[in-house]
Amino acid sequence: MLKTLQKIGDNFPYCLVIVDNTDKLRPCVYANQKFSENTGFDHNFVVGKNLSFLQGKLTDIETVLFMKKCFKEGVSCVQDIVNYKKDGTPFLNRLLMLPFGDKGRDYYLGFQNDITKEKGLDYSNESLKSIKDSEVKHVVNNSLAIIFGVLASESYRKSNPEQAAMELEKAFETILDYILKIESLSDFENFKYI
Ligand SMILES: Cc1cc2nc3c(=O)[nH]c(=O)nc-3n(C[C@H](O)[C@H](O)[C@H](O)COP(=O)(O)O)c2cc1C
Repeated sequence: MLKTLQKIGDNFPYCLVIVDNTDKLRPCVYANQKFSENTGFDHNFVVGKNLSFLQGKLTDIETVLFMKKCFKEGVSCVQDIVNYKKDGTPFLNRLLMLPFGDKGRDYYLGFQNDITKEKGLDYSNESLKSIKDSEVKHVVNNSLAIIFGVLASESYRKSNPEQAAMELEKAFETILDYILKIESLSDFENFKYI
C-alpha cells in the first residue's frame, strides 16, 4: 500500500505526504516532488521530521491542538492552517489528512494546498491573521474515509497494481478538485464521489 501511494505521489500534480502515526514523533516518511516545489523543503530534509516545522508565529494553536486530537482518534480531518515556506513566506494551507494502514490509522496521507490567492489574501501577515476568525477546521466523518478505505483495499488486492494506482489517483484528484473550490470546510460533508 505504501509503495502504491508513493508511486502515485511521484508524478502527482498536488502536494502529497505520508506520515507514520505509530511513532509518537509522527515523522514524515514520504514527501513528493510537488511538496518540495511548493514549500521549498526537499525530500531529504523532510523525511524523518514532524511536519510542524512548517508552522510559525501566525499559526493558530487551536488548529494544531485539533489535529493532535484527530490523530489520536484516528479520524480524517480537513483544515486551513497558516504555514511558512522555506524562504519564510507565510501561506494559507488547506490540509486534508486521511488515516490508513493495518489498524486503519497506522499511517496518514496528507494533501497540502496553497489557497492564499483563492481566499483573496496576499501573503502579507496582516491578511493571514484574519483567518483565525473564520471557520478553519473540520472532522471528515463523511463518506470520504469510506471511499478511500474501499479503494485502498481494492488496490491492495488487485493483481494489476498499475490499474489500482490509476484508480486511486483519479479519486484523489476528484476529492482535491472539490476541496479547493468549497468556501466553508463544513461543505465538504456534501462531497459525493460517484
Ligand atoms: C499526513 C500529515 C500531514 C501533515 N501536514 C502538515 C502541514 O502541511 N502543515 C502543518 O502545519 N502540519 C502538518 N501536519 C501536522 C504536524 O505534523 C503535527 O502532527 C501537528 O503539529 C501536531 O503535533 P504532534 O504530531 O507533535 O502531536 C501533518 C500531519 C500529518 C499526519
